[in-house]
Amino acid sequence: MMTVPDLQRYKREKKKVIVVTAYDALFARIVEQAGIETILVGDSLGVVVQGKPNTLSVTMDEMLYHTKLVVGAAQKSLVVGDMPFMSYQTGKEEALRNAGRFLQAGAHAVKLEGGAAMVDRIEAMTNVGIPVIGHLGMTPQSVNQYGGYKVQGKGKDHAARLVADAKSLEAAGVCAIVLEAIPSALAKKISEKVAIPTIGIGAGPHCDGQVLVLYDLLGLFDEFVPKFVKPYAHLKADALQAIRRYKEEVEQGKFPSDAESYH
Ligand code: KIV
Repeated sequence: MMTVPDLQRYKREKKKVIVVTAYDALFARIVEQAGIETILVGDSLGVVVQGKPNTLSVTMDEMLYHTKLVVGAAQKSLVVGDMPFMSYQTGKEEALRNAGRFLQAGAHAVKLEGGAAMVDRIEAMTNVGIPVIGHLGMTPQSVNQYGGYKVQGKGKDHAARLVADAKSLEAAGVCAIVLEAIPSALAKKISEKVAIPTIGIGAGPHCDGQVLVLYDLLGLFDEFVPKFVKPYAHLKADALQAIRRYKEEVEQGKFPSDAESYH
């Protein structure tokens, strides 16, 4: 069973923290069978499952539903619930209550986006035993402020602010920090400056771990494929081929054959 203290141990032992998203029981089981120890129930489900243009419309109820599906199937993974837009931005009391709902649904930790401005919320959570993972760099819930999904931390000032944000999150008690879409050199610097693991996505090879959206990794979602995604399979192409063959065989009277019929 992977636990929150194991995240720190992995960093000390220079062992990579490998994270994949999952949103349902079927994929949670597959991800675990493949040896992944940390599952993120990401609000990316708004895009890859719900077909929305971004993550902003995802609700707490939807996140809790998917978290329960994953928790119900995962046997030994650390399950992290991703706090959706407006579930923690409004203030620390609402943030704490919503983080607690994730733990009541069975998650072992929550993740939220943002830097120094989130410190009071993170402290409120960690003070009552709710482990929190931070998320810096290109934080998708701020997509409108960025004017699109763009690499962050390229300029000197912005890079320095991200380093300071990482230190603030660490001091507030986060157990890890996701670094998304920032230059590799900056991710390396942040990873060296904090004692907690950094988990990169589009942040180069020097992070203490990596995370990918499962549907990107499997080549299932091809509407928007960022540079940092490496599809390790092409399941959309396989699915299209399979469904087309099924249609063809029914049309040609080849399916069902004797083998698929009862006698
Ligand atoms: O929602 C998500 O899947 C995420 C990862 C991309 C880190 O936040």
